[in-house]
Amino acid sequence: MSAPQESKQGLSSLQIVFLVIAGFLLLVAIAVGFSKTTPPAEDADAEERIAPVASVSMNAAPAVAANAGKRTGEELYNAACLACHGSGVMGAPKAHDKAAWSARLGGNLKALVASAIAGKGAMPPRGGAMDATDEEITRAVEFMMK
Ligand code: HEC
Repeated sequence: MSAPQESKQGLSSLQIVFLVIAGFLLLVAIAVGFSKTTPPAEDADAEERIAPVASVSMNAAPAVAANAGKRTGEELYNAACLACHGSGVMGAPKAHDKAAWSARLGGNLKALVASAIAGKGAMPPRGGAMDATDEEITRAVEFMMK
């Protein structure tokens, strides 16, 4: 009677050993699987975590990225320059006042654009349109000079 019991016990402990090994292999497989997939994900997470709260781009601010860089002179003028250049407040040369524009820097477009980008007097750099590209500023100045 004792022999079958022993063999039964032996079998079950063997089964336990197999289960433990199988479980261990499963864990190893999962661990290997994770080690293959997690590093890139962790990197992405980390990059997200250490990313600056806001990014400043001179060419395309996120909020207006869809249109930034593509505005016509008139569009940028209406959005950013009209407030001052429409009425000529604070001594701003009025839009479409050819005499006023030719009196400034000899009416040289490049020089005027550089001045607008740098800012002058009461005018902030880029007329306050920090997301405007140099090309857009150029188009806006051209529009105002006509
Ligand atoms: C806050 C008001 C304001 C806004 C907005 C503004 N300007 Fe001006 N701008 C001025 C004033 C004031 C002057 C005259 C500055 C001076 O001579 O001291 C000026 C002058 C200029 C000049 C001539 C610079 C020179 O050297 O004589 C250009 C070019 C110009 N602006 C372009 C623009 C463009 C393009 C925009 C829009 C993207 C713009 N400005 C928006 C107020 C403004």
